[in-house]
Amino acid sequence: MRVLWVLLLLGLLGSCCKCNGQTARQENNTGFTCTGTRTCSTYAFYRASSPDFLELASIGDLFEVSRLMISSPSNISNPSAPLVPDQPLLVPLTCSCNPVNATYGSLSYANISYTIKPNDTFFIVSTFKFNNLTTYPSVEVVNPTLVATNLSIGQTVIFPVFCKCPNTSNYTYLISYVVQPSDNISSIASFFGTDQQSIINQNGNTLHDYDTIFVPVRRLPALSQPAIAPAPAPAPATVSSGKDRTGTVIGLGIGLGVVGLLLILVGAVWVYREVLMKDKLRVVRDEEEQRKVYLGGKGKGKEEKMDVKLMANVSDCLDKYRVFGIEELVEATDGFHQSCLIQGSVYRGEIDGEVFAIKKMKWNAYEELKILQKVNHGNLVKLEGFCIDPEEANCYLVYEYVENGSLYSWLHEDKNEKLNWKKRLRVAIDIANGLQYIHEHTRPRVVHKDIKSSNILLDSNMRAKIANFGLAKSGMNAITMHIVGTQGYIAPEYLADGVVSTKMDIFSFGVVLLELISGKEAIDEEGNLLWASAIKTFDVDNEREKSRRLKEWLDKDILRETFSIDSLIGVLTVAIACLHKDPSKRPSIMDIVYALSKSEDMAFEISDDGFGSPRVVAR
Ligand SMILES: *[C@@H]1O[C@H](CO)[C@@H](O)[C@H](O)[C@H]1NC(C)=O
Ligand SMILES: *[C@@H]1O[C@H](CO)[C@@H](O)[C@H](O)[C@H]1NC(C)=O
Ligand SMILES: *[C@@H]1O[C@H](CO)[C@@H](O)[C@H](O)[C@H]1NC(C)=O
Ligand SMILES: *[C@@H]1O[C@H](CO)[C@@H](O)[C@H](O)[C@H]1NC(C)=O
Ligand SMILES: *[C@@H]1O[C@H](CO)[C@@H](O)[C@H](O)[C@H]1NC(C)=O
Ligand SMILES: *[C@@H]1O[C@H](CO)[C@@H](O)[C@H](O)[C@H]1NC(C)=O
Ligand SMILES: *[C@@H]1O[C@H](CO)[C@@H](O)[C@H](O)[C@H]1NC(C)=O
Ligand SMILES: *[C@@H]1O[C@H](CO)[C@@H](O)[C@H](O)[C@H]1NC(C)=O
Ligand SMILES: *[C@@H]1O[C@H](CO)[C@@H](O)[C@H](O)[C@H]1NC(C)=O
Ligand SMILES: *[C@@H]1O[C@H](CO)[C@@H](O)[C@H](O)[C@H]1NC(C)=O
Repeated sequence: MRVLWVLLLLGLLGSCCKCNGQTARQENNTGFTCTGTRTCSTYAFYRASSPDFLELASIGDLFEVSRLMISSPSNISNPSAPLVPDQPLLVPLTCSCNPVNATYGSLSYANISYTIKPNDTFFIVSTFKFNNLTTYPSVEVVNPTLVATNLSIGQTVIFPVFCKCPNTSNYTYLISYVVQPSDNISSIASFFGTDQQSIINQNGNTLHDYDTIFVPVRRLPALSQPAIAPAPAPAPATVSSGKDRTGTVIGLGIGLGVVGLLLILVGAVWVYREVLMKDKLRVVRDEEEQRKVYLGGKGKGKEEKMDVKLMANVSDCLDKYRVFGIEELVEATDGFHQSCLIQGSVYRGEIDGEVFAIKKMKWNAYEELKILQKVNHGNLVKLEGFCIDPEEANCYLVYEYVENGSLYSWLHEDKNEKLNWKKRLRVAIDIANGLQYIHEHTRPRVVHKDIKSSNILLDSNMRAKIANFGLAKSGMNAITMHIVGTQGYIAPEYLADGVVSTKMDIFSFGVVLLELISGKEAIDEEGNLLWASAIKTFDVDNEREKSRRLKEWLDKDILRETFSIDSLIGVLTVAIACLHKDPSKRPSIMDIVYALSKSEDMAFEISDDGFGSPRVVAR
C-alpha cells in the first residue's frame, strides 16, 4: 500500500519537477519548528484558482473563516463577486506553536480541519487546494493516527497551514507566502512593501519554487484587485414599495480605530438595511467594549449588543438568502395573527403564492443564522431568508414550510391516520441522516442540543427534517453553565456537568426512537421519564421475556401490522444503546445509520419468528 502511494507520488512529482527544472525543497518539509506557546493572528497570501476556489465562500470554507474576513484585508468591496484565477487574497490565520512528538518537537501552524472529499489525498489537498501552504509530510506528522492510503470520504483531517509568529517588534506580521517561479527576492520585497534584507534574515537567501516563506511586514500590503464585471446585486429587492417611509436616518456615527475598517463595512451593511427597512439606526462605538456595536431603536430606549464578528456573519448571508421586508411578513401572517400561529413563535405565511414558516425572535437569532448558513441537507429544514426589524429589535427567520407538521403531533395527538412501522423506520433513518450531516460533515461540528419529536417535521411524503437550530452549538466538548434543552430528552451528563458533545444528541435521538416504538411521550403527566422506564423494562437477559415486554410496551397501532419482529428489536437495541449512561459508550451516528438501515431491510422480509406467532393483521 505504502509503496504504491510513494510510486504514485513520485510519478506526480516527477512530472512537475521536469518542467520546473528546480527541485522544491518543500517536498520533504514536515513543518516549521517553534518553541514556546505563542499564538498570533497572521495572514497567508493565497491565489484564487479554478475550478473550486473562484469565490470567497469556498475559500472561506477551506480556511474556516467568513468571506468578510478575507474580503476586507484583501481590498475586495463585494464579498460575493466571483474571483479570477490567480487573484491575490490575504486570508487570516490563527497561528500557534503545537507540540507534536519527541522527534518533531513543536511545529508552528494554523490548525485547519478539512473534510475529505472524493479523490482527495494529502498531497492533492496540500498542493492544489491549500496551494502549497502546507505539505503532505507535515499533514502526516500532525495526523499520526491516519493512514494516508486509506482515507474515507467525510473523514476530518488537520491540515497544518504553515505560519509563524514574529519574535521581534520590528514588524507586525510574518505573511505566509508561496514562492512562484517568476519571483525573486526583490520583486517579493517590493510587492509586500518591505526590504529584501528582512526577507533574507527570515528565510535565508535562496528561494525555491513553491516553498512557503515568511515575509515580515509592518502593515498589510494594499492589494490592487483586478477590475471585474459587477456581480449581481446582493439580495433581490423584496421591499414592497407601496408603504410610506416612516423613519429617517438620524445618524450614523462611527468611531474609527483598530476595528475601523470592519466597522465601516458593518456600517455599510446597516446603511443598506436602513434603506431597506426604512428604520432608524444609530451605530456608535463604545469606548470600553471596543468590539461591540450598540444599536438604539428610536423611542424604545432599547439597546442591544452585538458582536462585530456575528454581524460580519450576518452580512455574509445577505446575498445567499432572500431578505424580506417587515411589511411583507406582516401582510403574510395577517399581522402575526393567532390564526397563523403554528407553534411557539413560528407563524405560517404566504408570500407571492409561496408558503413559508416564519419564526419571530429577539436578536439572539445570530447564533442560529450562523449555523444555518453553513448547513444544507435534505433532512434539515432549510432557511430561505430573514428579516431584521430594528424598530422592534426583532429578527425573523424564514424557513421552508414543511407540510405535515411535527412528528410529535403524529405520535401523540389525535390524527385520523396513524404512522405505520415502515414510515416510522423511515423517519428514524431520516433523522439519523440529518444528525450524521451536522455531526460529521460540518466544520466545526454542530450539536443540535434540542432533538425531540416536536422539532422533527414531516414533509408531504412523510420524510423527516430536523428543525429549530435555536439552541444549536458549533464546536465540540465545550462546557456550558447555562443548561438548555427539553425535559425527558436531556442527556444526564449534560444536566449534571454541562458537557456539550454530539453524544447528547445521540441520547435525545434514543428517546425519539422510544417514542416511535411505544407511541408514548418522552415524559408523562406524572413526570416519569420514558427513557428511564425503557431501561428498566428491557434490562432482562431472557430474549423471550424481552419480546413479551416489548409486545406490551409497543404502540398498539403498530402491533396490528405485519412485519418482522427482528426489525423492531433491532431499533429497540439501538435506542437502548443510545441511552447509555456513559456518553463514550453510546454508538456513533454512523453505526446508528447502519443499524437502522439493516432494520429497515429486515422489516419486510418474510419471517416466521416473533411474538411466538405470526403477526396478526387487523386492517
Ligand atoms: C526528499 O527526500 C527524498 C528521500 O528521502 C530524497 O531522495 C530527496 O532528495 C529529498 N528531496 C529534497 C529536495 O531534499
Ligand atoms: C513522531 O511522529 C512521526 C510521524 O508520525 C513518527 O514517525 C515518529 O516515530 C514519532 N516519534 C516519536 C518519538 O513518537
Ligand atoms: C485542531 O483543531 C481541532 C478542532 O478544530 C482540535 O480537536 C485539535 O485538538 C486541534 N489540534 C491542535 C494541535 O491544536
Ligand atoms: C475522481 O476521479 C475519477 C477518475 O479519475 C473521476 O472520474 C471522477 O470524476 C473524480 N471525482 C471527483 C469528485 O473529482
Ligand atoms: C505546488 O507545488 C507543486 C510543486 O511542488 C506545483 O507543481 C504545483 O503547481 C503547486 N501548486 C500551486 C497551486 O501552485
Ligand atoms: C482502512 O480503514 C478502514 C476504516 O476506516 C478499516 O476498517 C480498514 O481496516 C483500513 N484498511 C487498512 C488497510 O488499513
Ligand atoms: C529592529 O530594528 C532596529 C532598527 O531598525 C535594528 O537595529 C534591529 O536589529 C532590528 N531587530 C531585528 C531583530 O531585526
Ligand atoms: C526580479 O524580477 C523582476 C520581474 O519579475 C525583474 O524585473 C528583475 O530584474 C528581477 N531581479 C533580479 C535580481 O533578478
Ligand atoms: C527571531 O527569529 C529569527 C528567524 O527565526 C532568528 O534569526 C532571530 O534570531 C530571532 N530573534 C530573536 C530576538 O529571537
Ligand atoms: C483597491 O483596489 C483598487 C482596484 O480594485 C485600487 O484602485 C485601490 O487603490 C486599492 N486600494 C488600496 C487601499 O490599495
